Amino acid sequence: MTNIAICGASGKMGKVIADIITGRDDCKVVGGIDKVADSGADFPIVATAAELPVKPEVIIDFSHPSTLDGLLDYCQTNGVPIVIATTGYSEEQIAKIKKAAELIPVFFTFNMSLGINLLAELAKKAAAVLEGQFDIEIIEKHHNQKIDAPSGTAIMLGNAINEVLEQKCEYVYDRHSVRAKRSKTEIGMHSVRGGTIVGEHEIIFAGRDEVISLKHEAHSKSVFAVGSVNAAVFLKNKEHGLFEMGDMLAEV
Ligand SMILES: NC(=O)c1ccc[n+]([C@@H]2O[C@H](COP(=O)([O-])OP(=O)(O)OC[C@H]3O[C@@H](n4cnc5c(N)ncnc54)[C@H](O)[C@@H]3O)[C@@H](O)[C@H]2O)c1
Repeated sequence: MTNIAICGASGKMGKVIADIITGRDDCKVVGGIDKVADSGADFPIVATAAELPVKPEVIIDFSHPSTLDGLLDYCQTNGVPIVIATTGYSEEQIAKIKKAAELIPVFFTFNMSLGINLLAELAKKAAAVLEGQFDIEIIEKHHNQKIDAPSGTAIMLGNAINEVLEQKCEYVYDRHSVRAKRSKTEIGMHSVRGGTIVGEHEIIFAGRDEVISLKHEAHSKSVFAVGSVNAAVFLKNKEHGLFEMGDMLAEV
């Protein structure tokens, strides 16, 4: 049994995670952290990790970048592993997450879905073959409540592609302000926001007279929730270190 606390427990993802955990017999929710207490939850919800009534074995975080410092302080002081799925961190915050992983187990990924992680692998293969001949553009679509743009997943896909390119590309988010042709060494990133779209990511490799397109659509938030609960169970008995989806899949 893995005792889990959910940070962002009153949010959209937090509620889906609580539901998924209720349906499993290898883990349970012992507490929630959220600035808004959801009266419908069947576990206590407190405003900060330091107020948790029971020490969890793992924290799953789907909240907001502003929770990071408090969470990392609590987890490092109490030796609690953490699954970090929140997006929108600054470079400085990402450095803090990596530093914390020297002391505690940290599972950190911009996308908890298996399909997206496979998409990243396919994109790397395509980029290695097509480099120099095809222009690469990433289009992401999300619901109208999403705060950050581009999505963390779009950046994750861009980073995966850049890993295999000999000539690294820079990301271009806004062609509106510059009147110039695109260069060969850029990846355009485009964000669409509307309605209730859960999450779509498409990578276009556009060449002369041909276009290759790789696309993933998430049809429900449960794909991310299931991934994060699996990550929590995976992380429970780990020594310190920074883990991501590939590490978990290697153990299956
Ligand atoms: N990595 C992934 O696979 C993945 C998938 C989906 C969503 N996300 C990310 O998870 C995060 C949450 O998404 P959501 O759709 O559930 O959002 P949401 O707005 O519905 O929920 C966020 C919750 O965090 C709480 N919160 C915000 N700031 C807080 C603070 N300072 N202290 C305590 N609680 C605070 C809010 O009250 C809210 O209940 C976002 O960053 C989103 O991009 C990541």
